[in-house]
Amino acid sequence: MKNIDSYTHVRGESVYLDDIPLQAGTLFAALFDSPIAHGKIKSLNISEASMMPEVVKIFTTRDIPGENQIGGIIKDEELLADTQVHFCGMPVALVIANTDAAAKAAVKKIKMEVESLEIITDPRVAKEKGELIIPPRTFQLGDTVSAWKNCDYIFEGRTETNGQEHLYIETQGAYVLPQENGALKVFSSTQGPTAVQRTIAGVLGIAMNKVEVDTTRLGGGFGGKEDQATAWAVLCALAAHDLKRPVKYSLHRMEDMRMTGKRHPYSSDFKIGLNKDLKIIAYEATFYQNAGAAADLSPAVMERTLFHCTNTYFIPNVKATAYSCRTHLPPNTAFRGFGGPQGMFVIEAAIAKAAEHLKISATEIQQKNLLKSGDEFPYGQLAESEANECWNKAEADFQISKMQQDVADFNTSNTLFKKGIAVMPICFGISFTKTFMNQARSLVNVYTDGSVNISTAAVEMGQGVNTKMLQVAAKIFSISPGNIKVNSTNTYRIANTSPTAASAAADLNGKATALACEAILQRMKQVAAAELKTSVDDIKIKDGFVYSNESKTELSWEKLAMLTHVNKISLSELAHYTPPGIYFDATIEKGHPFSYHVYGTSVITVTVDCLRGTYEIDAVKVVHDFGQSMNKMVDIGQCEGGIVQGIGWMTMEELVYDKEGKLRSNALSTYKVPDVYAAPKEIMVEALETQKENAAIFQSKAVGEPPLMYGIGAYFAIRNAVLAFNPTAHLPFDAPMTPEKVLMGLHAQIE
Ligand code: MTE
Ligand code: HPA
Ligand code: MOS
Repeated sequence: MKNIDSYTHVRGESVYLDDIPLQAGTLFAALFDSPIAHGKIKSLNISEASMMPEVVKIFTTRDIPGENQIGGIIKDEELLADTQVHFCGMPVALVIANTDAAAKAAVKKIKMEVESLEIITDPRVAKEKGELIIPPRTFQLGDTVSAWKNCDYIFEGRTETNGQEHLYIETQGAYVLPQENGALKVFSSTQGPTAVQRTIAGVLGIAMNKVEVDTTRLGGGFGGKEDQATAWAVLCALAAHDLKRPVKYSLHRMEDMRMTGKRHPYSSDFKIGLNKDLKIIAYEATFYQNAGAAADLSPAVMERTLFHCTNTYFIPNVKATAYSCRTHLPPNTAFRGFGGPQGMFVIEAAIAKAAEHLKISATEIQQKNLLKSGDEFPYGQLAESEANECWNKAEADFQISKMQQDVADFNTSNTLFKKGIAVMPICFGISFTKTFMNQARSLVNVYTDGSVNISTAAVEMGQGVNTKMLQVAAKIFSISPGNIKVNSTNTYRIANTSPTAASAAADLNGKATALACEAILQRMKQVAAAELKTSVDDIKIKDGFVYSNESKTELSWEKLAMLTHVNKISLSELAHYTPPGIYFDATIEKGHPFSYHVYGTSVITVTVDCLRGTYEIDAVKVVHDFGQSMNKMVDIGQCEGGIVQGIGWMTMEELVYDKEGKLRSNALSTYKVPDVYAAPKEIMVEALETQKENAAIFQSKAVGEPPLMYGIGAYFAIRNAVLAFNPTAHLPFDAPMTPEKVLMGLHAQIE
């Protein structure tokens, strides 16, 4: 089944925030945001801006009726700066005007005097100064201290991974309509409608039941709208509530890039020890997460870095410590992988360093240490591993060893072009790491004409979750997909939602939908049994008709719906689902936090132009653990998108903040994301179809985030190509591997 949005997408008919028709009298918002990364506000002069003809009102902290606070995990983030500014782009004053242009023009007339304070952009510096968002955390297995003496080889090193701009096609935005009795209707491009609702209630000092948040779909979120869609909706709500008029704010691309947080940059140290058989005996890592100026989701992201610090390898002795460091960058946030990719890069760098020193291929170390079922993760959960299955199928289908030989042969016979190859096996845990967030509700209504309407907490952002919800209902009811509609995500229909994140939306909301459908179906079957004078066990519904004792009856699904209603039996159900068996005890850092893991192996080959330092990704060949995919087309789309996004992070997307904390890569002219030329020439995704039981909806494993991490292989493939040209190249583990760094590695002379 195709993504149900594909028809309206290609016809330009899909409705995004900016497509919502405006009510007469709608006002427009624009922000005055701090041009300084850290300082005391000496004065804020809004008088000239206020006098401009189309300006209706300018809001500052003094106009906030409730709390000036939008922090989700920790209440450490002001909506509008009060006495200090903490990052360039921090909202200070909100201009409301009759037109978008007038609001933007008035922003330019606002003047702020700031007494500069010290600006920290480096997480290691922040840590030294004790600027931590939360106390550090350590995950530990075995005993690394005594394990080092059993190691034949020990390597240490340092790595850097840069941040990443989400670059959702639809920028952040919101449109708020005042309703009677002080209520608000909020259209928000958010992954977390409940976070928007809760924060609006807090800032306005009103009850959550007065705030209806509605989201039809996003033009991409990628984690950037899990927490950071909130501010704009709250600002619009603040003005709409006060002025009793509709207010809209849709960010310009450069405002969005400047004011929002991104993937967290990390600086990390590692120490890895192996024995002669290339078994990894011990591993230590220290992670310095650049959290930015406020917590946002950083504590949860940091936690996932620790969860994924050993990627898909079993290591008996592990000690990993993470620091969430407060700097003066915009608060960094969720981004596909949620800290996992940052943790996985470090172990892959450690393995690469060992391999380079031992003059072997990293694949020898990787393969020898893959997780087996029953192996323990550093956090106590035991693996149900598909790591070897994925690797072995990749070997069988793609012949990794032959590919490596082909690369070596090419490199012997070419001087100006070198090829590189790397294998990137992955393992990603599925569940919110905050256990209580793993819950969802689904409201299913069957109408008397047999048509079905589904409401869940899942937000459609291109990942096809609505299509999957529809498939769940179509399969359980055994009716045509054309008979089913998936509603917008709305906090009045479904309350207390977890954000659509952690790749878990299809599982959580799909299972809740399945429960709701099964409950309704059971009641309808009872009605059918009474009507056909047989027992419920003999009733089946198949392809829109009731079957009694395996034979088709005259009773259609539509007639049965009406009959159920006439019998005064409910055709609606609100079901609640929470996955069993997951828990985590943060006091000992042990538990069973994930419902299951997703595995896979990718093989990446690249060609480097050794004169220019440019490169092409020749191929990405993947064996991915889908479980039993309920929608191959959607799931392979997720793989392709994730891979290209991962490659972009690892190779070309270069986020640059200067020492003053100002974003220099602040537009698409200075921040390069993969385009059609940069995409791999070939992406091949083979399914590891497992028959094993898993906790996923219809056994179809979560697919949203894991494939991004295949892209990490591109970094190491390019590195290998550079080393083939210049075996003594000085190449710090510093991602992204931009063409500039490649060129320096190829040609820089080292003393
Ligand atoms: N795919 C598209 N097209 N657009 C997106 O914004 N977000 C990713 C992933 N795939 C995203 C996407 C992220 S960060 C997550 S957590 C999952 O989708 C969320 O959706 P799911 O839980 O339904 O997989
Ligand atoms: N993943 C994504 N988002 C989250 C998580 C997580 O594990 N925990 C809280 N928000
Ligand atoms: Mo995804 S980073 O969990 O929104």
